[in-house]
Amino acid sequence: MALPEIFPYIGGEFISTNETYQVHCPWDNSPIAKVHLAGEKELEQAILLAQQAERPMAELAAYEKYEILMQIAHGIKGKRDDFAKTLALEACKPIKLAYGEIDRAIQTFIIAAEEAKRPPAELIRIDWTPQGKGKEGLVKYFPIGLIAGIAPFNFPLNLSVHKIAPAIAAGCPIILKPARSTPLSSLKLAEVVSSTSLPKGALSILPTNREVGNKLVTDPRFALLSFTGSPQVGWKMKSQAGHKRVVLELGGNAGVIVTPSANLEQAVTKCLSGAFAYAGQVCIHTQRIYVHQSVFTAFSEKFIQGAVKLKNGNPLDTDTDISSMIDEENAIRVEEWVNEAVEAGARLLLGGKRQGSFFPPTVLTNTTSSMKVCAQEVFGPVVTLEPYTNFHEAVNLINQSEYGLQAGIFTNQLDEMNFAFNELRVGGVIINDVPTFRVDHMPYGGIKNSGFGREGVKYAMLEMLEPRLLVKNTL
Ligand code: SIN
Repeated sequence: MALPEIFPYIGGEFISTNETYQVHCPWDNSPIAKVHLAGEKELEQAILLAQQAERPMAELAAYEKYEILMQIAHGIKGKRDDFAKTLALEACKPIKLAYGEIDRAIQTFIIAAEEAKRPPAELIRIDWTPQGKGKEGLVKYFPIGLIAGIAPFNFPLNLSVHKIAPAIAAGCPIILKPARSTPLSSLKLAEVVSSTSLPKGALSILPTNREVGNKLVTDPRFALLSFTGSPQVGWKMKSQAGHKRVVLELGGNAGVIVTPSANLEQAVTKCLSGAFAYAGQVCIHTQRIYVHQSVFTAFSEKFIQGAVKLKNGNPLDTDTDISSMIDEENAIRVEEWVNEAVEAGARLLLGGKRQGSFFPPTVLTNTTSSMKVCAQEVFGPVVTLEPYTNFHEAVNLINQSEYGLQAGIFTNQLDEMNFAFNELRVGGVIINDVPTFRVDHMPYGGIKNSGFGREGVKYAMLEMLEPRLLVKNTL
Protein backbone atom coordinates (compact mmCIF):
# COMPACT_ATOMS: atom_id res chain seq x y z
CA MET A 1 0.00 0.00 0.00
CA ALA A 2 1.31 3.46 -0.93
CA LEU A 3 2.39 5.57 2.01
CA PRO A 4 0.32 8.66 2.78
CA GLU A 5 2.05 11.78 1.45
CA ILE A 6 2.28 14.70 3.84
CA PHE A 7 3.00 18.25 2.67
CA PRO A 8 4.38 21.40 4.31
CA TYR A 9 1.69 23.91 5.23
CA ILE A 10 2.60 27.32 3.86
CA GLY A 11 0.44 30.18 5.00
CA GLY A 12 -2.83 28.33 4.39
CA GLU A 13 -1.92 25.88 1.57
CA PHE A 14 -0.34 22.42 1.52
CA ILE A 15 2.46 22.47 -1.05
CA SER A 16 4.26 19.62 -2.80
CA THR A 17 8.09 19.84 -2.98
CA ASN A 18 10.87 17.87 -4.69
CA GLU A 19 12.61 16.53 -1.60
CA THR A 20 10.92 13.82 0.49
CA TYR A 21 11.77 11.45 3.34
CA GLN A 22 10.01 8.66 5.19
CA VAL A 23 8.80 8.82 8.79
CA HIS A 24 9.03 5.49 10.63
CA CYS A 25 7.35 4.13 13.74
CA PRO A 26 10.20 3.45 16.21
CA TRP A 27 8.39 0.35 17.54
CA ASP A 28 8.98 -1.81 14.45
CA ASN A 29 10.69 0.65 12.12
CA SER A 30 7.79 0.40 9.66
CA PRO A 31 7.37 3.43 7.35
CA ILE A 32 4.21 5.38 8.13
CA ALA A 33 4.35 8.43 5.86
CA LYS A 34 6.27 10.14 3.10
CA VAL A 35 6.91 13.76 4.08
CA HIS A 36 7.77 16.57 1.67
CA LEU A 37 10.50 18.84 2.98
CA ALA A 38 10.23 22.60 2.67
CA GLY A 39 13.36 24.17 1.17
CA GLU A 40 14.67 27.75 1.13
CA LYS A 41 12.11 28.77 -1.51
CA GLU A 42 9.17 27.54 0.59
CA LEU A 43 10.57 29.17 3.74
CA GLU A 44 10.89 32.47 1.90
CA GLN A 45 7.32 32.16 0.67
CA ALA A 46 6.15 31.43 4.25
CA ILE A 47 8.01 34.47 5.60
CA LEU A 48 6.53 36.80 2.97
CA LEU A 49 3.00 35.53 3.63
CA ALA A 50 3.55 35.83 7.39
CA GLN A 51 4.73 39.42 7.00
CA GLN A 52 1.56 40.21 5.05
CA ALA A 53 -0.44 38.62 7.89
CA GLU A 54 1.17 40.78 10.60
CA ARG A 55 -1.36 43.61 10.35
CA PRO A 56 -4.51 41.45 9.96
CA MET A 57 -3.32 39.42 12.98
CA ALA A 58 -2.61 42.53 15.06
CA GLU A 59 -6.04 43.94 14.17
CA LEU A 60 -8.02 40.85 15.23
CA ALA A 61 -10.50 41.67 17.97
CA ALA A 62 -10.38 39.62 21.16
CA TYR A 63 -13.65 37.86 20.28
CA GLU A 64 -12.28 36.94 16.82
CA LYS A 65 -9.13 35.39 18.33
CA TYR A 66 -11.33 33.60 20.85
CA GLU A 67 -13.48 32.17 18.06
CA ILE A 68 -10.52 31.03 15.95
CA LEU A 69 -8.84 29.33 18.92
CA MET A 70 -12.08 27.61 19.93
CA GLN A 71 -12.66 26.50 16.32
CA ILE A 72 -9.23 24.82 16.41
CA ALA A 73 -9.94 23.20 19.80
CA HIS A 74 -13.21 21.77 18.47
CA GLY A 75 -11.52 20.68 15.24
CA ILE A 76 -8.94 18.60 17.14
CA LYS A 77 -11.67 17.14 19.34
CA GLY A 78 -13.57 16.02 16.26
CA LYS A 79 -10.53 14.04 15.06
CA ARG A 80 -9.32 12.91 18.48
CA ASP A 81 -8.85 9.23 17.53
CA ASP A 82 -7.04 10.06 14.33
CA PHE A 83 -4.71 12.47 16.16
CA ALA A 84 -3.99 9.95 18.93
CA LYS A 85 -3.14 7.16 16.49
CA THR A 86 -0.86 9.40 14.43
CA LEU A 87 0.93 10.58 17.56
CA ALA A 88 1.29 7.07 18.97
CA LEU A 89 2.84 5.83 15.73
CA GLU A 90 5.21 8.70 14.97
CA ALA A 91 6.49 9.19 18.55
CA CYS A 92 6.06 5.59 19.78
CA LYS A 93 3.94 7.03 22.57
CA PRO A 94 1.63 4.48 24.25
CA ILE A 95 -1.87 5.24 22.98
CA LYS A 96 -3.28 6.03 26.43
CA LEU A 97 -0.59 8.72 26.84
CA ALA A 98 -1.16 9.87 23.26
CA TYR A 99 -4.83 10.53 24.10
CA GLY A 100 -3.64 12.47 27.14
CA GLU A 101 -1.48 14.68 24.93
CA ILE A 102 -4.32 15.30 22.45
CA ASP A 103 -6.63 16.32 25.31
CA ARG A 104 -3.95 18.65 26.63
CA ALA A 105 -3.55 20.23 23.17
CA ILE A 106 -7.31 20.89 23.10
CA GLN A 107 -7.03 22.44 26.58
CA THR A 108 -4.08 24.58 25.50
CA PHE A 109 -6.18 26.10 22.69
CA ILE A 110 -9.10 26.69 25.07
CA ILE A 111 -6.77 28.37 27.58
CA ALA A 112 -5.37 30.56 24.79
CA ALA A 113 -8.91 31.48 23.76
CA GLU A 114 -9.52 32.70 27.32
CA GLU A 115 -6.20 34.54 27.54
CA ALA A 116 -6.87 36.27 24.20
CA LYS A 117 -9.66 38.14 26.04
CA ARG A 118 -7.41 39.47 28.78
CA PRO A 119 -4.05 40.63 27.45
CA PRO A 120 -1.89 42.50 29.99
CA ALA A 121 -2.40 46.25 30.40
CA GLU A 122 -1.52 48.71 33.18
CA LEU A 123 -2.58 52.17 34.23
CA ILE A 124 0.33 53.82 36.06
CA ARG A 125 0.64 56.93 38.18
CA ILE A 126 3.33 59.13 36.69
CA ASP A 127 3.14 61.66 39.55
CA TRP A 128 5.34 59.80 42.05
CA THR A 129 7.82 62.63 41.62
CA PRO A 130 7.19 66.40 41.16
CA GLN A 131 8.16 66.24 37.46
CA GLY A 132 5.27 63.85 36.84
CA LYS A 133 2.57 66.08 38.33
CA GLY A 134 -0.55 66.20 36.15
CA LYS A 135 0.51 63.26 34.01
CA GLU A 136 -0.87 59.75 33.80
CA GLY A 137 0.36 56.70 32.00
CA LEU A 138 -0.97 53.65 30.21
CA VAL A 139 1.10 50.60 29.28
CA LYS A 140 -0.44 48.62 26.44
CA TYR A 141 1.05 45.47 24.91
CA PHE A 142 1.43 45.10 21.16
CA PRO A 143 2.23 41.95 19.12
CA ILE A 144 5.99 41.59 18.72
CA GLY A 145 5.81 40.41 15.07
CA LEU A 146 6.79 37.20 13.31
CA ILE A 147 7.58 34.23 15.52
CA ALA A 148 9.79 31.23 14.78
CA GLY A 149 8.88 28.06 16.69
CA ILE A 150 10.98 24.91 16.83
CA ALA A 151 9.27 21.91 18.43
CA PRO A 152 10.76 18.68 19.82
CA PHE A 153 9.88 15.03 19.14
CA ASN A 154 8.60 14.12 22.61
CA PHE A 155 5.29 16.06 22.70
CA PRO A 156 5.05 16.74 18.98
CA LEU A 157 1.52 18.10 19.13
CA ASN A 158 1.17 19.84 22.48
CA LEU A 159 4.60 21.47 22.47
CA SER A 160 3.88 22.82 18.96
CA VAL A 161 0.54 24.06 20.29
CA HIS A 162 2.40 25.79 23.15
CA LYS A 163 3.94 28.03 20.51
CA ILE A 164 1.05 28.32 18.03
CA ALA A 165 -1.85 28.99 20.44
CA PRO A 166 -0.18 31.86 22.38
CA ALA A 167 1.01 33.36 19.08
CA ILE A 168 -2.58 33.51 17.80
CA ALA A 169 -3.80 34.87 21.15
CA ALA A 170 -1.06 37.54 21.09
CA GLY A 171 -1.84 38.45 17.46
CA CYS A 172 1.45 37.26 15.94
CA PRO A 173 2.03 35.16 12.80
CA ILE A 174 4.18 32.08 13.39
CA ILE A 175 6.29 29.67 11.35
CA LEU A 176 6.83 26.36 13.10
CA LYS A 177 9.39 23.66 12.37
CA PRO A 178 8.37 20.26 13.79
CA ALA A 179 10.96 17.64 14.76
CA ARG A 180 12.20 15.57 11.82
CA SER A 181 11.06 12.28 13.36
CA THR A 182 7.57 13.50 14.41
CA PRO A 183 6.07 16.03 11.96
CA LEU A 184 2.76 14.24 11.37
CA SER A 185 0.53 15.35 14.24
CA SER A 186 1.46 19.02 13.85
CA LEU A 187 0.73 18.82 10.10
CA LYS A 188 -2.61 17.22 10.98
CA LEU A 189 -3.19 20.27 13.16
CA ALA A 190 -2.54 22.39 10.05
CA GLU A 191 -5.48 20.61 8.36
CA VAL A 192 -7.70 21.69 11.24
CA VAL A 193 -6.38 25.26 11.18
CA SER A 194 -6.86 25.55 7.41
CA SER A 195 -10.63 25.28 7.84
CA THR A 196 -10.85 28.10 10.40
CA SER A 197 -10.96 31.86 9.91
CA LEU A 198 -7.30 32.41 10.92
CA PRO A 199 -5.91 35.01 8.47
CA LYS A 200 -3.98 33.38 5.63
CA GLY A 201 -0.23 33.52 6.14
CA ALA A 202 -0.53 33.57 9.93
CA LEU A 203 0.59 29.95 10.32
CA SER A 204 3.09 27.86 8.40
CA ILE A 205 4.31 24.45 9.51
CA LEU A 206 7.45 23.47 7.69
CA PRO A 207 9.36 20.23 8.02
CA THR A 208 12.83 21.26 6.80
CA ASN A 209 16.37 20.00 6.84
CA ARG A 210 18.72 21.40 9.48
CA GLU A 211 20.26 24.04 7.21
CA VAL A 212 16.93 25.58 6.19
CA GLY A 213 15.62 25.21 9.76
CA ASN A 214 18.60 27.18 11.02
CA LYS A 215 17.29 30.23 9.15
CA LEU A 216 14.51 30.37 11.75
CA VAL A 217 17.30 31.06 14.22
CA THR A 218 19.42 33.49 12.22
CA ASP A 219 16.97 35.40 9.98
CA PRO A 220 16.43 38.91 11.41
CA ARG A 221 12.85 39.07 10.08
CA PHE A 222 11.79 36.88 13.02
CA ALA A 223 11.13 38.89 16.17
CA LEU A 224 11.19 35.91 18.54
CA LEU A 225 12.63 32.39 18.49
CA SER A 226 10.81 29.91 20.72
CA PHE A 227 12.76 26.65 20.94
CA THR A 228 12.06 23.47 22.88
CA GLY A 229 14.78 20.83 22.78
CA SER A 230 18.17 19.92 24.12
CA PRO A 231 20.34 22.36 26.11
CA GLN A 232 23.31 21.94 23.75
CA VAL A 233 21.27 22.93 20.70
CA GLY A 234 19.24 25.61 22.51
CA TRP A 235 22.12 27.61 23.93
CA LYS A 236 23.97 27.47 20.59
CA MET A 237 20.85 28.83 18.87
CA LYS A 238 20.66 31.68 21.36
CA SER A 239 24.21 32.68 20.48
CA GLN A 240 23.26 32.73 16.77
CA ALA A 241 19.91 34.48 17.11
CA GLY A 242 21.13 38.08 16.74
CA HIS A 243 18.80 40.72 18.17
CA LYS A 244 15.61 38.68 18.27
CA ARG A 245 14.06 37.62 21.56
CA VAL A 246 14.70 34.02 22.50
CA VAL A 247 12.73 31.60 24.69
CA LEU A 248 14.41 28.29 25.47
CA GLU A 249 12.65 25.33 27.07
CA LEU A 250 15.47 22.87 27.62
CA GLY A 251 16.10 19.81 29.71
CA GLY A 252 16.78 18.83 33.26
CA ASN A 253 17.58 16.03 35.69
CA ALA A 254 14.63 16.73 37.96
CA GLY A 255 14.77 15.60 41.56
CA VAL A 256 12.10 14.55 44.05
CA ILE A 257 12.26 14.16 47.83
CA VAL A 258 10.07 11.69 49.72
CA THR A 259 9.89 12.59 53.41
CA PRO A 260 8.60 10.43 56.32
CA SER A 261 5.42 12.55 56.57
CA ALA A 262 4.43 11.70 52.98
CA ASN A 263 1.69 9.34 51.91
CA LEU A 264 4.02 6.57 50.71
CA GLU A 265 1.54 4.82 48.40
CA GLN A 266 0.78 8.11 46.69
CA ALA A 267 4.48 8.95 46.38
CA VAL A 268 5.29 5.54 44.85
CA THR A 269 2.46 5.72 42.30
CA LYS A 270 3.36 9.23 41.21
CA CYS A 271 7.11 8.52 41.10
CA LEU A 272 6.49 5.46 38.88
CA SER A 273 4.62 7.60 36.41
CA GLY A 274 7.15 10.47 36.62
CA ALA A 275 10.04 8.07 36.08
CA PHE A 276 8.75 5.84 33.30
CA ALA A 277 5.91 7.58 31.42
CA TYR A 278 6.88 7.90 27.76
CA ALA A 279 10.09 6.03 28.56
CA GLY A 280 11.39 9.03 30.50
CA GLN A 281 11.66 11.15 27.34
CA VAL A 282 10.22 14.18 29.09
CA CYS A 283 12.13 17.33 30.10
CA ILE A 284 10.63 17.09 33.62
CA HIS A 285 11.17 13.33 33.85
CA THR A 286 11.64 12.26 37.50
CA GLN A 287 15.30 11.29 37.37
CA ARG A 288 16.67 11.54 40.93
CA ILE A 289 14.60 10.25 43.86
CA TYR A 290 15.80 10.98 47.41
CA VAL A 291 13.92 9.06 50.09
CA HIS A 292 14.26 9.53 53.86
CA GLN A 293 16.22 6.60 55.28
CA SER A 294 13.37 5.65 57.63
CA VAL A 295 11.09 4.85 54.68
CA PHE A 296 13.73 4.02 52.07
CA THR A 297 13.35 0.22 52.16
CA ALA A 298 9.55 0.35 52.11
CA PHE A 299 9.58 2.87 49.26
CA SER A 300 12.17 0.93 47.18
CA GLU A 301 10.31 -2.36 47.52
CA LYS A 302 6.99 -0.85 46.46
CA PHE A 303 8.64 1.14 43.68
CA ILE A 304 10.37 -1.91 42.18
CA GLN A 305 7.17 -3.98 42.55
CA GLY A 306 5.30 -1.29 40.61
CA ALA A 307 8.00 -0.93 37.95
CA VAL A 308 8.12 -4.67 37.11
CA LYS A 309 4.37 -4.60 36.47
CA LEU A 310 4.67 -1.97 33.71
CA LYS A 311 3.71 -3.57 30.43
CA ASN A 312 6.04 -3.10 27.52
CA GLY A 313 4.67 -3.30 23.99
CA ASN A 314 3.25 -1.86 20.81
CA PRO A 315 2.27 1.81 21.29
CA LEU A 316 -1.14 1.11 19.74
CA ASP A 317 -2.10 -1.49 22.36
CA THR A 318 -4.32 0.06 24.99
CA ASP A 319 -2.62 -1.78 27.86
CA THR A 320 0.95 -0.74 26.89
CA ASP A 321 2.64 1.34 29.58
CA ILE A 322 6.08 1.70 28.02
CA SER A 323 7.24 1.28 24.44
CA SER A 324 10.44 1.81 22.43
CA MET A 325 12.50 4.96 22.72
CA ILE A 326 12.48 7.38 19.79
CA ASP A 327 15.45 5.58 18.16
CA GLU A 328 18.13 2.99 18.81
CA GLU A 329 20.86 5.61 19.01
CA ASN A 330 19.26 7.07 22.13
CA ALA A 331 18.65 3.64 23.66
CA ILE A 332 22.35 2.82 23.12
CA ARG A 333 23.38 6.09 24.78
CA VAL A 334 21.18 5.40 27.81
CA GLU A 335 22.59 1.88 28.09
CA GLU A 336 26.14 3.24 27.98
CA TRP A 337 25.39 5.73 30.79
CA VAL A 338 23.88 2.97 32.94
CA ASN A 339 26.86 0.65 32.29
CA GLU A 340 29.28 3.46 33.10
CA ALA A 341 27.50 4.09 36.42
CA VAL A 342 27.57 0.38 37.33
CA GLU A 343 31.28 0.17 36.51
CA ALA A 344 31.86 3.16 38.80
CA GLY A 345 30.07 1.47 41.76
CA ALA A 346 26.32 2.03 41.25
CA ARG A 347 24.03 -0.93 41.98
CA LEU A 348 21.36 -1.95 39.50
CA LEU A 349 18.06 -2.68 41.26
CA LEU A 350 16.09 -3.23 38.05
CA GLY A 351 16.46 -3.22 34.25
CA GLY A 352 19.55 -1.95 32.48
CA LYS A 353 19.54 -4.25 29.45
CA ARG A 354 18.52 -2.83 26.07
CA GLN A 355 16.67 -4.71 23.32
CA GLY A 356 17.06 -2.72 20.08
CA SER A 357 15.45 0.66 20.70
CA PHE A 358 13.54 -0.57 23.75
CA PHE A 359 15.10 0.26 27.10
CA PRO A 360 13.35 -1.20 30.16
CA PRO A 361 12.44 0.66 33.36
CA THR A 362 15.78 0.91 35.16
CA VAL A 363 16.52 1.72 38.79
CA LEU A 364 20.00 2.47 40.16
CA THR A 365 21.20 3.09 43.69
CA ASN A 366 24.57 3.81 45.31
CA THR A 367 25.17 6.46 42.67
CA THR A 368 27.36 9.56 43.01
CA SER A 369 26.40 13.04 41.85
CA SER A 370 29.10 13.11 39.17
CA MET A 371 27.80 10.02 37.32
CA LYS A 372 26.08 10.92 34.03
CA VAL A 373 22.84 9.22 35.18
CA CYS A 374 22.69 11.82 37.99
CA ALA A 375 24.47 14.87 36.60
CA GLN A 376 23.13 14.97 33.05
CA GLU A 377 19.72 14.71 31.47
CA VAL A 378 19.20 11.00 30.88
CA PHE A 379 16.04 11.41 28.73
CA GLY A 380 15.27 7.73 29.16
CA PRO A 381 13.50 5.38 31.61
CA VAL A 382 16.21 5.50 34.27
CA VAL A 383 15.98 6.70 37.87
CA THR A 384 18.41 6.89 40.74
CA LEU A 385 17.06 6.05 44.20
CA GLU A 386 19.05 7.25 47.19
CA PRO A 387 18.41 7.52 50.96
CA TYR A 388 18.92 10.81 52.84
CA THR A 389 18.95 11.66 56.54
CA ASN A 390 18.51 15.44 56.66
CA PHE A 391 15.87 17.35 54.65
CA HIS A 392 18.10 20.39 54.10
CA GLU A 393 20.82 18.14 52.70
CA ALA A 394 18.32 16.53 50.34
CA VAL A 395 17.28 19.98 49.06
CA ASN A 396 20.95 20.73 48.62
CA LEU A 397 21.39 17.54 46.58
CA ILE A 398 18.63 18.63 44.21
CA ASN A 399 20.31 22.00 43.86
CA GLN A 400 23.67 20.40 43.07
CA SER A 401 22.85 20.34 39.39
CA GLU A 402 23.56 22.46 36.38
CA TYR A 403 19.81 22.25 35.67
CA GLY A 404 16.79 23.81 37.38
CA LEU A 405 13.44 23.06 35.74
CA GLN A 406 11.06 21.64 38.38
CA ALA A 407 11.34 19.70 41.65
CA GLY A 408 8.85 17.60 43.62
CA ILE A 409 8.55 17.28 47.41
CA PHE A 410 6.35 14.71 49.12
CA THR A 411 5.77 16.18 52.55
CA ASN A 412 2.93 17.20 54.82
CA GLN A 413 5.07 19.54 56.95
CA LEU A 414 4.70 23.26 56.44
CA ASP A 415 8.30 24.03 57.43
CA GLU A 416 9.59 21.61 54.78
CA MET A 417 7.31 23.07 52.10
CA ASN A 418 8.47 26.60 52.94
CA PHE A 419 12.13 25.66 53.06
CA ALA A 420 11.91 23.81 49.74
CA PHE A 421 10.04 26.64 48.04
CA ASN A 422 12.49 29.27 49.28
CA GLU A 423 15.68 27.33 48.64
CA LEU A 424 15.18 25.21 45.52
CA ARG A 425 16.79 26.80 42.47
CA VAL A 426 14.21 25.68 39.91
CA GLY A 427 11.36 27.15 37.86
CA GLY A 428 8.64 25.27 39.77
CA VAL A 429 8.27 23.43 43.10
CA ILE A 430 5.52 20.82 43.20
CA ILE A 431 4.32 19.67 46.63
CA ASN A 432 3.00 16.12 46.99
CA ASP A 433 3.54 15.37 43.35
CA VAL A 434 6.44 14.69 41.02
CA PRO A 435 8.40 17.34 39.11
CA THR A 436 6.81 15.81 36.01
CA PHE A 437 3.50 17.48 36.90
CA ARG A 438 2.33 20.06 34.40
CA VAL A 439 -0.94 21.66 33.39
CA ASP A 440 -0.88 23.93 30.41
CA HIS A 441 -1.77 27.32 31.86
CA MET A 442 0.90 27.29 34.57
CA PRO A 443 4.21 29.08 33.99
CA TYR A 444 6.69 26.51 32.76
CA GLY A 445 10.40 26.91 32.30
CA GLY A 446 13.72 26.62 34.00
CA ILE A 447 16.76 28.42 35.26
CA LYS A 448 20.46 27.61 34.92
CA ASN A 449 21.05 25.26 31.98
CA SER A 450 17.35 24.38 31.79
CA GLY A 451 16.23 27.38 29.86
CA PHE A 452 15.48 31.03 29.36
CA GLY A 453 12.01 32.58 29.61
CA ARG A 454 8.71 30.86 30.28
CA GLU A 455 5.96 29.02 28.45
CA GLY A 456 2.44 28.26 29.71
CA VAL A 457 -0.03 30.20 27.58
CA LYS A 458 -0.18 33.54 29.44
CA TYR A 459 3.58 33.53 30.06
CA ALA A 460 4.39 32.61 26.46
CA MET A 461 2.13 35.47 25.33
CA LEU A 462 4.10 37.93 27.46
CA GLU A 463 7.24 36.93 25.54
CA MET A 464 5.33 37.58 22.29
CA LEU A 465 4.16 41.07 23.24
CA GLU A 466 5.98 44.40 23.41
CA PRO A 467 4.94 46.97 26.04
CA ARG A 468 4.36 50.53 24.80
CA LEU A 469 3.85 53.49 27.14
CA LEU A 470 1.44 56.37 26.65
CA VAL A 471 1.93 59.42 28.89
CA LYS A 472 -0.87 62.02 28.97
CA ASN A 473 -0.51 65.52 30.35
CA THR A 474 -3.81 66.34 31.98
CA LEU A 475 -2.93 69.84 33.17
C1 SIN B 1 8.61 18.77 28.13
O1 SIN B 1 9.09 17.65 27.95
O2 SIN B 1 9.26 19.83 28.15
C2 SIN B 1 7.13 18.99 28.30
C3 SIN B 1 6.53 18.23 29.39
C4 SIN B 1 5.04 18.41 29.41
O3 SIN B 1 4.50 19.31 28.73
O4 SIN B 1 4.37 17.67 30.15
